[in-house]
Amino acid sequence: MTCFRRRSLAFLLSFVTLAPCALRAATPDVAPPDRDWWRTSVIYEVYPRSFGDSNGDGIGDLNGITQHLDYLKDLGVDAIWISPFYPSPQVDFGYDISDYEGIDPQFGTMADFDRLMSEAKKRNIRILNDMVLNHTSDQHPWFIESKSSRTNPKANWFVWQDGKPDGQPPNNWVSLFGHSAWQFEPSRKQFYYHEFYKQQPDLNWENGDVRKAMYDVLRFWMAKGVAGFRLDAITSLFEDLSLKDEPYVAGTNAYGDRNVSRLYTDNLPQVHDVLRELHKTVSEYPGTILIGETYLPNVAELAKMYGRDRDELDLPMDTQLGFTNRLSVPEFRGKLQDAETKINGNVPLFVFENHDNSRSINRYGDGTHNAAIAKLLATLLLTPRDAALIYYGEELGMMDNIPKRKEDVQDPIGKLGWPKEKGRDGERTPMQWNNDVDAGFSSAAKTWLPVGADFQTVNVVREQKDPNSLLNYYKTLIHLRKENPQLREGGFVTVDDSNNNVFSYLRNTPDGKAVLVVTNFTAAPQTVALNLGTAAIQGAHVRTLLASFASAPRLELRAFSLPPYASYVGQVEP
Ligand code: GLC
Repeated sequence: MTCFRRRSLAFLLSFVTLAPCALRAATPDVAPPDRDWWRTSVIYEVYPRSFGDSNGDGIGDLNGITQHLDYLKDLGVDAIWISPFYPSPQVDFGYDISDYEGIDPQFGTMADFDRLMSEAKKRNIRILNDMVLNHTSDQHPWFIESKSSRTNPKANWFVWQDGKPDGQPPNNWVSLFGHSAWQFEPSRKQFYYHEFYKQQPDLNWENGDVRKAMYDVLRFWMAKGVAGFRLDAITSLFEDLSLKDEPYVAGTNAYGDRNVSRLYTDNLPQVHDVLRELHKTVSEYPGTILIGETYLPNVAELAKMYGRDRDELDLPMDTQLGFTNRLSVPEFRGKLQDAETKINGNVPLFVFENHDNSRSINRYGDGTHNAAIAKLLATLLLTPRDAALIYYGEELGMMDNIPKRKEDVQDPIGKLGWPKEKGRDGERTPMQWNNDVDAGFSSAAKTWLPVGADFQTVNVVREQKDPNSLLNYYKTLIHLRKENPQLREGGFVTVDDSNNNVFSYLRNTPDGKAVLVVTNFTAAPQTVALNLGTAAIQGAHVRTLLASFASAPRLELRAFSLPPYASYVGQVEP
């Protein structure tokens, strides 16, 4: 698919930080909550079915994540976002939730979750839950009650409408997963709206009881100590209940439906009211953040997601940059400048990969320079002023493993849309830990998705031993990001702006110090003469901090040469 905080000691301590010094001195050994931990963070998405399988059933689980926390600590991640592990019929592999306050037995128990939390905390890794607010599973007790009659207490918890007089659905709205977004329910003799699968009925966010129930779900997990939420499909909470037909736009989708505009079903202004309420809810536990799955048409819409008073999402995903899908200097430069100048000084959250999109090497690689291109993407993700999302295996260079036969497909959209839409199995294959059976992911005879064919060479153990591996490149970048003051807290300014082959920028601090990043977006060697004076930075040399090629320890800026697709990070010197 292509496009798509603790009221408790910590809460009290948040006031202590504002209190007079004498009071602070009285509590010397308790650190105040770090409310800003996320601003420069590296967040790692774990797709739990595919990360680590502790019980040998071929499906990853919570204990499998706990077993690998030392790896994540060593990589340097600040937090992990775990895709849904709640009880679910697994129609959409967990994004169809039937109980928001439980653990699906295939992923473990609440005791396993609590252990994961405490082990992660020992390693200073925060846990972020995925929260699906737009819809539930059709097996959720709320929906079962809601569909039972038109008069039950939850009758208005979902989006119910009468059909047309001839029995057809209320309008032409199309599900993102194919065909009509309306499903007839015989017991009510009405249709319900589902943006995704028909087993995922949309909640009615106009209903105050729905809001209250969901805010209490957030409180349940915050009381357990989670550091925030990734809000699934957050832009589509509301539908325009005037029910007008969507205007048709050109073409058909992979399922053969005419394309519609989504004017009345996506990014409605009411979403912002709910975002402010969600923000207020998480502010009960200072330091808790809200990340949004925000596929938006432009940076102006993205800017709105932070809220006028920074009172909505902390980190709406900037899907503009990482899903550019071609190595174009003007596009990357423009989008990074936009993130710097058009989101009101907020922190952008960049992302190149997730569980819904083809792996980045499949989208940006040229087949010949994939190793260099993977390092280039890592550089563009981890050196701007941003928070960064890494999807498990991205740091290894894992590639898509797309099913070759329809009968092997697991993702229902791949079954429905075959062969145009082959589903999302390709980017969800097991984490490649080593070159043993099942790539060290599992001991099962058959894993839920097959292990990638390249696991003998693309795996953690092998890459840990190779100083030039992508994994070691990621690790060095993440550690530089934490340790180097310019990369940690510096501003962002582009240089050599007329160059469409080489993209260069600085991270600079008010003391005049700067780190220079230079990236070659072409398959040819490039030589550039870099004048940093345009950014008011004095410097004729750079001391190499990291390069994707064999670089001298110190380079001159007036004749700076880069091999194809090379990336360079260096400290500017006189
Ligand atoms: C989000 C998830 C995706 C899921 C959909 C429906 O886009 O990332 O995996 O299928 O929502 O919940």
